[in-house]
Amino acid sequence: MSDRRPLIAGNWKMNCLRDDGLALASGLASKLSGASERPECDILLCPPATLLADVVGVLGHCDIHAGGQDCHFDKSGAHTGDIAASMLADIGASHVILGHSERRADHGESSTIIRQKTIAAHNAGLTAVVCVGETEQERDLGAAIAVVCGQMDVSLPEDATAENTVIAYEPVWAIGTGRTAAVADVEEMHAAIRRKLKERFADGDAFRILYGGSVKPSNAAELLAVENVDGALVGGASLKVEDFWGIVSACK
Ligand code: G3P
Repeated sequence: MSDRRPLIAGNWKMNCLRDDGLALASGLASKLSGASERPECDILLCPPATLLADVVGVLGHCDIHAGGQDCHFDKSGAHTGDIAASMLADIGASHVILGHSERRADHGESSTIIRQKTIAAHNAGLTAVVCVGETEQERDLGAAIAVVCGQMDVSLPEDATAENTVIAYEPVWAIGTGRTAAVADVEEMHAAIRRKLKERFADGDAFRILYGGSVKPSNAAELLAVENVDGALVGGASLKVEDFWGIVSACK
């Protein structure tokens, strides 16, 4: 059992208009305040940017963090439609997801861009949740670990620490598909990620490594019991109070 405190993060992605988003956030805040025992984990909600300030307001003083789903690498300037890391911090975000496979695919984000964004997040005082993960083709070719370690080599800046950076391993083929990675594969990949972190950083053993990819209440306990799995990055199941709380409650 590690002494790393698990983190359960909800990535709402491009979902929720205002009323639904506020109901979801307040529902989770009520679950936490009504819990007979506080779950043994940190909790993070990452709504769309349009809802972030409101969600921060709803969460108020309850012990749930709020974060963004992306940020630009520049401090400010001529970047129409983009959001600076300082703007996320300014409205109360403490974290930001970076390098999600959907952004790597939809927006052509390279690991070099993700490193620049991670530096910007750190400079704004945000904790970066840096996503890595292989495609099904890369796994079928036996290249999964090489791909993920290569993404880490470039995506993680030298200023990364266990305090300002969380790693999220999300096999691309498990995202939104219901095909959760096999426990043995999760264990192997998280061990490889841990080795890479310990090679590069003095506090490499203290970084939290989340698993993401079809995490549900039904499989959360099994996944969270795997060595070097220090929490989950949850998509679909984060959009339902009972489902997300079921995953939070699996943290023992
Ligand atoms: O960032 C988390 C997300 O990619 C996982 O999605 O729906 O498979 O839990 P889902």
